[in-house]
Amino acid sequence: MTASTNAPKLDRYWMPFTANRQFKATPRLLAGAEGMYYTSDDGRRILDGTAGLWCVNAGHGRREIADAVGQQLRELDYAPSFQMGHPIAFRFAEELGDIAPGGLDRVFFTNSGSESVDTALKIALAYQKAIGQPGRTRLIGRERGYHGVGFGGISVGGLVNNRRTFGPLLPGTDHLRHTHDPAKNAFTKGLPQHGAELADDLERLVALHGADTIAAVIVEPVAGSTGVLLPPVGYLERLREIATRHGILLIFDEVITGFGRLGTPFATEYFRVKPDIVTTAKGLTNGAIPMGAVFASREVHDALVQGPEGMIELFHGYTYSGHPAACAAGLATLEIYRREGLLTRAASLAAHWEEAVHGLKSLPNVIDIRTIGLVAGVELAPREGAPGKRGYDVFVDCFNHGLGVRVTGDIMALSPPLIVEPAQIDAMVNMLGESIARVA
Ligand SMILES: Cc1ncc(COP(=O)(O)O)c(C=O)c1O
Repeated sequence: MTASTNAPKLDRYWMPFTANRQFKATPRLLAGAEGMYYTSDDGRRILDGTAGLWCVNAGHGRREIADAVGQQLRELDYAPSFQMGHPIAFRFAEELGDIAPGGLDRVFFTNSGSESVDTALKIALAYQKAIGQPGRTRLIGRERGYHGVGFGGISVGGLVNNRRTFGPLLPGTDHLRHTHDPAKNAFTKGLPQHGAELADDLERLVALHGADTIAAVIVEPVAGSTGVLLPPVGYLERLREIATRHGILLIFDEVITGFGRLGTPFATEYFRVKPDIVTTAKGLTNGAIPMGAVFASREVHDALVQGPEGMIELFHGYTYSGHPAACAAGLATLEIYRREGLLTRAASLAAHWEEAVHGLKSLPNVIDIRTIGLVAGVELAPREGAPGKRGYDVFVDCFNHGLGVRVTGDIMALSPPLIVEPAQIDAMVNMLGESIARVA
């Protein structure tokens, strides 16, 4: 590899979720992107197997988004959203309402998935107070859940490394068990057949704490960051039923599943389960400008937006909520999604995808494969005494051979841009397979 002549100095940038010293010793720098490919700083093409970080759903370098953002910045670069407004934020909320998950068409803008999660949790607490249930302060998440990195998100989240250094976390949280059961479900095509009864954990927590102390339960419909865990058949329906019966709000964290990842606009449509609140980010703006959105039901919204007219109903918001440039990026993104049918395109590729990825089954150390829509998790057996090492080695090997993948521990994840062509799926899966074999 030839180092680029204008290589940046690396010391000062404290990188997120990165082994900084290891990275800086052998950096992996991306310098450009177009369509399905990145270009590394040493000029190599790297097939994007993960839509950036599950966000570039329409592929890289979309001119329409860049143009819309540029035009918006020239017209109105910034305007406050507290007690003032600007038309493009209302326009974007209006258009999002037309495709809103489960018909939840009241939209609160944030700047990231983490902020969407904290916003949703706060809305849930405020809602319970507004309807005369102030004792409902408990928030329930799930083991292995990832809900970003705010204190709310890590408190309901269930990834130990994200939690253990930062306590004390929010009081009064608890967790459902996760749904991963490889002994029963390994290599299942489609949703796992076993595990719907794990939703009854919510009953257990109701019995333990009392329903009148629980405000909301939050889950990812498909758990992404922990390594692609699919909900067992019937699980989400059961969770919905139990939550409703006990007056507990159900929040779906669709930061990954939103905007076409499963082959439907949102996971709510895929699973035909309607939550009360949905969190989104990532694909909302194709990753081009940071933005998140929380979708709430009218019932939740209307319970909060009442009282004296001159009163601020929800003391919450961000300087950049509904930022004009982000709204412009979002509107342009929605237009691309609509024109190219990207919110449902994954459905037409899912069978090919599943077949291709399951073709890795007989490779050394592959102990489970899970796919849904255009997402895949390939779980590898950990090296003895060195969990995560094999996965990391495959990740680096893939990068060095021209493929971008995600790794969580020893689970490799793929989630390409939704513009991916069948031949690129085959290339991607082949490259991953070759890496798994080489690293073995
Ligand atoms: C389900 C889920 N929620 C929340 C987040 C946090 O989003 P962000 O990194 O934009 O804060 C993520 C990020 O991957 C996510 O996958």
